Amino acid sequence: MIDLNFKYQEAISYLKKESPFTPDIAIVLGSGLGEFADSTKKIKSLSTSEIPGYPKTTVKGHQGAIHFSKVEKKNILIFQGRLHFYEGYKISDCLLGVLLSNKLGCKKIIFTNAAGGVNRNFAPGDLMLIDSFNALQLNKEITSLIGVTSIEVRNNFLNCPSKRMNEIFMDSAKEIKIPLHSGTYWYSKGPSYETPAEISMVSRFGADAVGMSTVHEAVFATFLNMEVAAISCITNMAAGISRQKLSHSEVTETAKNVAKKFSLLLKTAVSRF
Ligand code: HPA
Repeated sequence: MIDLNFKYQEAISYLKKESPFTPDIAIVLGSGLGEFADSTKKIKSLSTSEIPGYPKTTVKGHQGAIHFSKVEKKNILIFQGRLHFYEGYKISDCLLGVLLSNKLGCKKIIFTNAAGGVNRNFAPGDLMLIDSFNALQLNKEITSLIGVTSIEVRNNFLNCPSKRMNEIFMDSAKEIKIPLHSGTYWYSKGPSYETPAEISMVSRFGADAVGMSTVHEAVFATFLNMEVAAISCITNMAAGISRQKLSHSEVTETAKNVAKKFSLLLKTAVSRF
């Protein structure tokens, strides 16, 4: 932790200086889900390229912008674009958004992501509230970073995602009549999509959706005492679940198509937190 504060000290002080308000909630937007930012009242926007020490994004659909926005009366910090482990970044780089949110005073954080549907009752374009996840592939990275025993790290997972925030998401979805699944998100290191055999395996292990982000961020945010919620946009059915060939353009295309209902759900829930 001390290393992170040191490594990113310039980015932290730059953002503190630029911040027009103390944000209540941070929102990290996943692949193709950037449109939410445009549906909010932006007070100030920064490109991540102007922040000293901020790594560059390489994935299409991830713009690399930070917005200070208003949703109802809430002050929101929005990360449009995230850094993925599969792009070759260090795990510490992937956690920078969470660290900055914490340093600016956010008490809550919402992660969104694009994910492949493993549960056969899902369809592309569906939304899934994450009620649990696996972090088996990340234990080493997370433990080495936050420098605590694996038992302490594991305890973090027990409180994450937040039951209270999830209830608010479910109630909001019901009220605005947007179907919202809940389920288990399976973290996959990437960079390639899974094979049908891997999907068949994780399906037996209880996965409902699979994706390459969110879990390390959620665990780190919980470690920093932030309350966490996370939503997956099912952009495609995972390998072998449907016959269709997987592509990143399908992922961003589907995410774009659900942008409206997704933004409405986020806004409704955010105004209630
Ligand atoms: N697998 C992993 N990550 C993903 C997928 C997938 O099928 N779709 C979107 N992100």
